[in-house]
Amino acid sequence: MVTPSPSQFRARVVDTRALVGGYFVLSMEGPAQPAPLAAVIPGQFVMLRGEWGRDPINPRAFSVLDSDGDGRFSVMLKAYGRGTARLCAMRSGEPVTVTGPLGQGTFVSPSAHGPTQLLVAGGVGLPPLHLQARRAAAAGLASRVELLYGGRDRDDLVLLTDFEGWGVRMHLATEDGSLGDRGFVTVPLQRRLQAAADAGEALQILACGPTPMLRAVRAMGLRHHVPTFLCLEEEMACGFGVCLGCAVPVYGDKPYEYCCTEGPVFEARRVRWS
Ligand SMILES: Cc1cc2nc3c(=O)[nH]c(=O)nc-3n(C[C@H](O)[C@H](O)[C@H](O)COP(=O)(O)OP(=O)(O)OC[C@H]3O[C@@H](n4cnc5c(N)ncnc54)[C@H](O)[C@@H]3O)c2cc1C
Ligand code: FES
Repeated sequence: MVTPSPSQFRARVVDTRALVGGYFVLSMEGPAQPAPLAAVIPGQFVMLRGEWGRDPINPRAFSVLDSDGDGRFSVMLKAYGRGTARLCAMRSGEPVTVTGPLGQGTFVSPSAHGPTQLLVAGGVGLPPLHLQARRAAAAGLASRVELLYGGRDRDDLVLLTDFEGWGVRMHLATEDGSLGDRGFVTVPLQRRLQAAADAGEALQILACGPTPMLRAVRAMGLRHHVPTFLCLEEEMACGFGVCLGCAVPVYGDKPYEYCCTEGPVFEARRVRWS
């Protein structure tokens, strides 16, 4: 757990890069000294809002894809509803109000002698796992993480060359079979879990993606007794514990925890999903 010091600051769009499959990488530049997101941890997120009037009025949540020490940072998104469509249409120079870094539950770092981390991603769940892999590679630990990534078709799998460049092993799956296994990401995950069980290899699962994928990954992690951590993307209005709109049902002393303050990463066995 980390204790973040979220701040609100103004940034400017410096680049909008369209990827395949309707995905965008939005790069922004905020204050450089000190850079509010310089020490961001994989799983932490920002709330973003452009100067687009009242529609929509609330900011939107995005995992940090990357951040450097000089105030530049990026997110990856796809136009989905009003807020994401507005952000995808932004041009260089336009101002953005940013709150962050937010979130206290984050992904644990890999270690040289710790379990191999399986980074299981789907859709716009890739960014925190991309940052996890980037950090692992920078620490000389690329061999301690593996990407398992699923999508509808090959255009739904983006930024693969980054993982290749970092030397991260990849297991891909597409529903139409155009790249990797045919089916969901659970196909290579099942194979990898079985191989590890046969070899007595210690694993950890870190996952982010659509809720049906997270439910399936949680069930597989529990069945194979593999510590599993889920980055949840609940709908959020404030991002810092005020609106109480992002409750996650959990086992334990209290029935709910809040995704924005106690998450967004939760240990799978604590999440009370039927
Ligand atoms: C911690 C966190 C990290 C996130 N990271 C990313 C990211 O890196 N990239 C990215 O593209 N998106 C990310 N999201 C999701 C993103 O915040 C939502 O897609 C966004 O809020 C939708 O805004 P919108 O205005 O486009 O859609 P809206 O017009 O607000 O909503 C359209 C429809 O989708 C529903 N909806 C809105 N948000 C969600 C949600 N989070 N889950 C389920 N249903 C929802 C609404 O109820 C509505 O029915 C993240 C969310 C969280 C909480
Ligand atoms: S988003 Fe408002 S309390 Fe979590």
